[in-house]
Amino acid sequence: MGVFEQQLLLLDGEFSLKIWPRNKNEHTPQGIDWDNIPEHIAIIMDGNGRWAQKKGMPRGIGHRAGLEALKAVVRCCDEIGVKYLTVYAFSTENWKRPQSEIGILMSLLKEYLKRELMELVANHVQIRVSGEIEQLPKDVYEDVLQACQKTKNNDGLVFNLALNYGGRSEIVKAVREIAQEVRNGEISVQEINEKIIEDHLYTASIPDPELLIRTSGEMRLSNFLLWQVAYSEIVVAEEYWPDFKEKSLLNAIEIYQNRERRFGGIMKVEE
Ligand code: FPP
Repeated sequence: MGVFEQQLLLLDGEFSLKIWPRNKNEHTPQGIDWDNIPEHIAIIMDGNGRWAQKKGMPRGIGHRAGLEALKAVVRCCDEIGVKYLTVYAFSTENWKRPQSEIGILMSLLKEYLKRELMELVANHVQIRVSGEIEQLPKDVYEDVLQACQKTKNNDGLVFNLALNYGGRSEIVKAVREIAQEVRNGEISVQEINEKIIEDHLYTASIPDPELLIRTSGEMRLSNFLLWQVAYSEIVVAEEYWPDFKEKSLLNAIEIYQNRERRFGGIMKVEE
């Protein structure tokens, strides 16, 4: 067993002290209502490539800078009391990119899971994944499984990485599984309802995101969490993802808090 694994084992026991330095009071809120922090935030991290190209640098540098932005956002979400964070890290469509870029994204993911795991464990973060991870390169797949395994009992922020994820194929997967259950006589067609479909999504047991953030000014869902964002508030930030800082996150939350969520109903009227 290497030193890294030994250190992880040490952290496996009861470890109640968080090591991230701040709590929510140390962020400068500017109008944030701390009692109305979204429980689940989903993020489409867009613009790494353009960020790099604008600076005359290769796209890979943009992805590396994007990883730094991600680390800061994970930390901030935990500090301010977000319970679930889902990020679109690699879509089913991203396989169309040049092999060299796919390789960079995969090595950044491996690096993240290796270097940050101790800090995540120490902060009680639970890593989950959404997507067909069996199709990832074997070494990446194994690292992802290990990170999920190591953190599965953690009771802090649930950090859900969407990897080789596509919203439509997630729904197809759910439909196939439910059809199989009907065929096996486990449920009837009449019993199929929204709850049963949700239970067959990767996000089973995770509440729908109240807030979906997309960076780089693009206004598309890009096949992300198609079922789950039915009632999410969407905030589009102008920054490219590597420039998305904690302040940008707090801004997005403030915009969300100023929205009126009606879920198809009407505003409460005085009678
Ligand atoms: C979009 O930028 C971002 C991605 C394709 C993936 C997100 C990746 C990271 C944040 C860094 C790596 C982190 C992990 C966990 C793998 P883009 O390349 O589509 O940007 P563009 O639209 O400007 O080309």
